[in-house]
Amino acid sequence: MSNCYIRTCRRDRIELSHLTVHDLWENMEATDNGHDLRAALKAFDDSLAGVKGLVDAGIARVPSFFVYDKSDIEDLPCDPTDTSVPTIDMGAIDHGRAERDDIVSKIRDACENWGFFQVINHGIPVSALDEMIAGVRRFHEQDVEVKKKFYSKDMGKRFFYNSNHDIYSSKAASWRDTMYSLYTPEPPQPEELPEICRDIMLEYARYVMKLGHTLLELLSEALGLSPNRLKEMGCGDGMFQVAHYYPPCPEPELTMGLKKHSDSGFLTILLQDKIAALQILHHNQWVDVPPLHGALVINIGDLMQLISNDKFKSIIHRVVTKREGPRTSVACFFRTHLSDGTRVYEPIKELLSEDNPPIYKGTTVKDFMTRFFKKELGTSSLAHLRL
Ligand code: OGA
Ligand code: NI
Repeated sequence: MSNCYIRTCRRDRIELSHLTVHDLWENMEATDNGHDLRAALKAFDDSLAGVKGLVDAGIARVPSFFVYDKSDIEDLPCDPTDTSVPTIDMGAIDHGRAERDDIVSKIRDACENWGFFQVINHGIPVSALDEMIAGVRRFHEQDVEVKKKFYSKDMGKRFFYNSNHDIYSSKAASWRDTMYSLYTPEPPQPEELPEICRDIMLEYARYVMKLGHTLLELLSEALGLSPNRLKEMGCGDGMFQVAHYYPPCPEPELTMGLKKHSDSGFLTILLQDKIAALQILHHNQWVDVPPLHGALVINIGDLMQLISNDKFKSIIHRVVTKREGPRTSVACFFRTHLSDGTRVYEPIKELLSEDNPPIYKGTTVKDFMTRFFKKELGTSSLAHLRL
């Protein structure tokens, strides 16, 4: 901790744990003048109030440790006119072979060429989607003293909340707070979840698990395998959920909500509210995934790219910051967590041939995830498995 910081605390007789958000902000101003960055990071982390705490305190500038290198934000051109991420209507999956095959072929095309698509008529009532967004907002916007009790960085817990999990290791902090919940191998007990959004979290998780299994069947068929193949491999055995809250940002051009990355699991089901901020890398340009009320965004994760031997693509994506907000989203990653250290995932044998030899060696989800959590977000998690 810098001398300056200790002096500030002593002069004002403020214990670190009793810092108000205003004191915290004053201290961050000091770091902007070149003083101790680590002290500011710790003060932010110790506030347990997240980015929302800063915004509630009325900050007018983005603290320096949230500022990204310009080259990390403006790395590639954006194409705001391209809104052509595919939208697939799932309404007819049980209407007959021809209807189902048509949907499977659209999904195959999307997984090969985009890695992302939206689905409508997916079976989850729109009212449940709306209530899930509302529940996540209630959690993040509740009395901060209640919310603080859930603050943790322990990835093994079944429910916790924090801001910038990787605050001490990342190059720049992100403009986002997140709540995490683990549905592997069982969903959390109701009392493990915050009361303010407990019911909808459990209800939404049930719907999402069901939809995830349906999508895994369709993806199996899209790979030319029997419908149950991916489920039998365990791709739908676990789910990890992150529910993000991106507060409005006074200087959106300086920071990011979520820096570029690919998702780790087999499949992600993402619910976003009506603020457009999610962008995917398509043909070397950043392309928006336009919010569509009632739709869900589906994307392929790294482990699916691995087992499909690169047929399906796990695509880089990011969330930009906005002056408007808050923006809320819920990402459900289909994968077991750190517990599954026995099953080995490798390119599926039936997909391989002399012309299509395996590109990756096998891994357990446990090894894969342990590595994923340790590395800087945005660096490839498949590179070390390439043969
Ligand atoms: C993620 C993610 C997108 C969003 O959590 O991995 O990409 O819109 N989220 O929040
Ligand atoms: Ni993601």
